Amino acid sequence: MKEFIIYNPVKIIFGWGVLENCGKEAKNLGKKALIITGKNSTKKTGVLDRVIELLKNNDVQSVVYSNITPNPKTDEVDEAANLGIKENCDFVIGLGGGSAMDAAKGVAIVLKSGGNLWDYVALPSKKAKQIGEVASVMLIPTLAATGSESNPAAVFTNKETQQKAAIYNPAKLYPKVSIVDPSLTVTVPKRQTAEGIIDIIMHVLEEYLTGENDCDLQDRITEGIILTCIENAEKVLQKPDDKNARTNISLASTIALCGLPNSGRSGSWVVHPIEHAITGIYDNIAHGSGIAAVLPAYLRFLGRKKPDKVKQLAIRIFDADEYTDEEELTEVCAKGFEDFISSIGLANDLKDAGVEKAKLTKIADKLIEVSGIPDIIGNKDALMGILKDAFGE
Ligand code: NZQ
Ligand code: ZN
Repeated sequence: MKEFIIYNPVKIIFGWGVLENCGKEAKNLGKKALIITGKNSTKKTGVLDRVIELLKNNDVQSVVYSNITPNPKTDEVDEAANLGIKENCDFVIGLGGGSAMDAAKGVAIVLKSGGNLWDYVALPSKKAKQIGEVASVMLIPTLAATGSESNPAAVFTNKETQQKAAIYNPAKLYPKVSIVDPSLTVTVPKRQTAEGIIDIIMHVLEEYLTGENDCDLQDRITEGIILTCIENAEKVLQKPDDKNARTNISLASTIALCGLPNSGRSGSWVVHPIEHAITGIYDNIAHGSGIAAVLPAYLRFLGRKKPDKVKQLAIRIFDADEYTDEEELTEVCAKGFEDFISSIGLANDLKDAGVEKAKLTKIADKLIEVSGIPDIIGNKDALMGILKDAFGE
């Protein structure tokens, strides 16, 4: 196990109905909030109006920017930050899924440090501008998926270059407070619920599969999160207002990327950067769907490259017999996830997810441009092999 530091300064208020705390928490952050949210859902469900009311009851004024699209774009963030500057907002609230929450983090940077958001994104070909001051951020997730509420990361798409890239900054980007109220997720449609579940699983699976082999506790936490997601997926898809299932999935989302499950192991993130390259090109594909379409092919690749972990996963998650031969165990694992992904209504390959075969090379090139080829993959030929396998041919 590697040496590690966990420093997660987010005040997390968790539970059914805790949204009611948002006004009094906001009062500690500032006098005028810039609320960042998506185009429709928070208006339709009434949660946006409720947040504004709770702020007002606590003498906090607010201005709303509701133009954030899924896979948020850098120009939306810049536009929102300009509104916040014009309106003299002194802190930011992100209300919605990962897209609205990430956008809120981006707005908090531009609001105080100036410039354009893309200036702060580092690529192999470009250095990032250093982030100076950042406005305080409160996050209120309405969808269980990204864990943005408990981490210092945010992901943005540059429409012009079709590059989707992350800003990760533990010194600057943790929200001050996150209000995680699972009751806000009961209106999430089945598809987005399923996409969120596969995303949560991948947040712990990336480093489980490729990191150090001696992290017993982290492995058990990971397996616990995966099993919690699998078991509650069925319940919540059958009964979207299942309080226990929604609560357990929300907690899995918040814990998966809070720092502890991935501590002490330095694995490679592979499926995520591939997915970011896909949705940088295909804005109509959601993050969780991109993950679901790549995961089985990646497991087959890893079964050849790092069979121990795939074997452990097959035994502990899919009840495989440990005396089965290695190739078969890989298949149990890949097929197990394929079946799970289909059972929650998502495509388990790139073709069915809507990716064209002619774009596979472009996806590989975008990955190389934005984050480089992950070490465990090694070279472009191996990457193309995974993409072709994920395409389903
Ligand atoms: O846009 P609105 O109208 O709000 O509707 C959204 C959107 O259409 C809808 N929705 C959200 N809450 C709802 C709801 N519909 C009904 N009821 C509710 N309560 O769901 C749709 C998807 O929302 P979105 O925010 O795009 O989804 P998600 O939470 O999956 O976020 C995806 C973004 O987060 C990034 C992804 O790359 C992607 O850009 N990620 C961020 C991470 C982080 N900050 O740590 C890590 C992740 O790995 C990920 O990369
Ligand atoms: Zn993710």
